[in-house]
Amino acid sequence: MNKPTIFITRKIPEELIAPFQSQFTITMWEDEKKPIPKEVLYEEALKADGLLCLITENIDREFLHHASHLKIIANMAVGYDNVDIDAAREYGVTITNTPDVLTETTADLTFALLMATARRLVEASNTIYENKWGDWSPFMLAGADVHDTTLGIVGMGRIGEAVAKRASGFNMNVLYHNRSRKEEVERALGLSYVALDDLLSTSDYVVSLVPMTSETKKLFNQEAFHKMKTSAIFINASRGGVVDETALFDALKHGHIRAAGLDVFQEEPIQADHPLTTLSNAVLLPHIGSATMQTREAMLKLCLENISAVFHGAKPKTPVH
Ligand code: GLV
Repeated sequence: MNKPTIFITRKIPEELIAPFQSQFTITMWEDEKKPIPKEVLYEEALKADGLLCLITENIDREFLHHASHLKIIANMAVGYDNVDIDAAREYGVTITNTPDVLTETTADLTFALLMATARRLVEASNTIYENKWGDWSPFMLAGADVHDTTLGIVGMGRIGEAVAKRASGFNMNVLYHNRSRKEEVERALGLSYVALDDLLSTSDYVVSLVPMTSETKKLFNQEAFHKMKTSAIFINASRGGVVDETALFDALKHGHIRAAGLDVFQEEPIQADHPLTTLSNAVLLPHIGSATMQTREAMLKLCLENISAVFHGAKPKTPVH
């Protein structure tokens, strides 16, 4: 019997693929850094029975129509806003994502970004590289305290919970807002559920961990930034699309909020001439939330396990639908 063919849209280490070679014929786009061009993806998808893709691939209705014979598309990310789930359902293509395995790693990065922004770590480090340390002075590079402050988490999923756990070590008062209230989590972690407006107006740190959907698109807009305290720090570790970047730029430039730490952007990658790079009160990272060796390997392994389950007639571990 012919083995099913799996196409992987980026070059990944042979060791990760090796355990699956007996089940599948595995082919991949032979570039580790650059996404596969659309026309090549379309061509390769026609030869495959299953696909492992990244968030750089646009799995829209057009693609799903073109490749409706695929049994499964395993998206190597917890967020799946790059996939048209309704279309996948209509065409009967199973979609899986990679929750759980990246929760703690992404929470680590979210908290690191919060602390780097509060304590101006990048700016401080740059003074040395730019030979601008000068003499010690009382308020040189003075930032904001993290301990004993109020943290407002928008989007209380798994990563939100993991960030809240970290915050308790800093004696932070943790507020959250979520589509649905989570009373058990509140009790377990000592969180307070509040309306979004209250969270925005009372938090010292507003952290976005909401998925990108039609409801959350540009949730953090001019109105939202104007509701925040002028001393507030905004952190985004979810998706760039949930922020109106022009409004954020204005809020940072005109002191409506104190600073922002961003791991994600409306259009990625951003370049060095992006307006946000001109601001000293913005800390910008190239979407590295889950980027540790262990977690990236775990994400790829989970994708391959999901694919394997589907071809064995079993339920995948982490289906999106
Ligand atoms: C990365 O952004 C992810 O959604 O896993």
